[in-house]
Amino acid sequence: MDRIRIRGGNRLNGSIPISGAKNAALPLMIVSLLTPGTLTLSNVPRLADVRLLQRILQNHGIDITVAGKRASQTGMGDVMHLSAKDIVDTTAPYDLVSKMRASFWVLGPLLARCGVAKVSLPGGCAIGTRPVDMHLMAMEKLGAEIAIENGYVLASAKKGLKGAHIVFDKVSVGATHAALMAAVLAEGDTIIENAASEPEIGDVAECLVKMGAKIEGIHTATLRIKGVTSLQGCEHSVIADRIETGTYAMCVGMTGGDVLLQGANANHLGAVIDVMQRAGVDVKVKNDGLRIHRNGAALEPVRVDTEPFPGFPTDCQAQLMAMMTMAHGTSIIRETIFENRFMHVQELARLGSDIHLHGDTAEVRGVKKLTGAPVMATDLRASVSLVIAGLAAEGETMINRVYHLDRGFETLEDKLQACGADVARISG
Ligand code: UD1
Repeated sequence: MDRIRIRGGNRLNGSIPISGAKNAALPLMIVSLLTPGTLTLSNVPRLADVRLLQRILQNHGIDITVAGKRASQTGMGDVMHLSAKDIVDTTAPYDLVSKMRASFWVLGPLLARCGVAKVSLPGGCAIGTRPVDMHLMAMEKLGAEIAIENGYVLASAKKGLKGAHIVFDKVSVGATHAALMAAVLAEGDTIIENAASEPEIGDVAECLVKMGAKIEGIHTATLRIKGVTSLQGCEHSVIADRIETGTYAMCVGMTGGDVLLQGANANHLGAVIDVMQRAGVDVKVKNDGLRIHRNGAALEPVRVDTEPFPGFPTDCQAQLMAMMTMAHGTSIIRETIFENRFMHVQELARLGSDIHLHGDTAEVRGVKKLTGAPVMATDLRASVSLVIAGLAAEGETMINRVYHLDRGFETLEDKLQACGADVARISG
């Protein structure tokens, strides 16, 4: 199993190309289930989660071809052609769905296109129980009959889905994707209230519109959809990954230096930019991305709650916490989205951080120095927080179980090395 070795202490200088967003690429690939035409996605990141979803979609009968240059410094990603001419299997089996929660999202499109779906419940997850009750509520509102048997959701809508008024009682990215993807082919009008307005949902909605869907209110919390009878293929480019952008911004905040995050979209990062600036990191919006700069001045502590977009993203919480371990004072970070998303705290402690947990809140007391140690990656975002801490820790940090990193960060070690970090992947 691969490991990442970091020798800390180098400042970062240069530029890092930002890849296509994992959290947009995955639902966009699933959208291909909705049309017999060919969906061509460009700027698709080369990630383990993308490869896994490819296998899941191929299992349903989707033909997928991938063309692209070798993973490179261009940040251009792959071009992926997905063609669901015939859906040969409407079952998403446990052994695939259990490996990646987002694969559960095939439920809505399968129901909409085929009138039937059998999808394994995703099961437990390192960052909390993460139920799917809101997904199922949305499908029922759209007229599906739902049963749960032997760990599977059995859904059917023999006469097709019907438009409905769906009001979510809290914001869920996945349930919004599911409701939107099902409603575009339902008969009649659908309103989705308290929809998640994360940029990745806007990206999916814009792709659906190119395919012939009728959607109003894109990028807002109320989506209005007029169902159509069929959708066609289209070409669509995946937006830049705002979480990857925030992560590298925090790497630079941690080490100091001057880095251009090429292709980053500042409009998707308002809350992150605000927090970085409050911490004393200089962030400038450029034509070709975001420039992050910090000289030798100490980081200031911050008080941050994670929130749905446009608030501070839970997917950057672990990275922010790592950066704040060396701030000049005590930061308060409250996690409001997931109940168990502090797995990184005990690993950060191994590097010498001083963090105290009080329920959903972490009190991060800044320390003068961190020292390298062997640590264990526990989930995707937690593992990259260890990279951030390792970049500033004295001596050597060895991160084990880096397959978590490979799920969501494309060529992380190359991108950091190119800016002067001493980072290496140790194979085997
Ligand atoms: C997506 C993102 C993930 C991000 C999260 C929150 C992808 C592939 N994943 O995950 O990176 O951390 O949004 O921004 O895009 N909930 C329920 N019932 C449901 C569904 C969700 O109670 O039916 C709860 C969850 O347990 C959680 C909260 O709602 O507490 C938000 O979860 P949700 O937005 O659905 O996260 P995901 O879509 O799984």
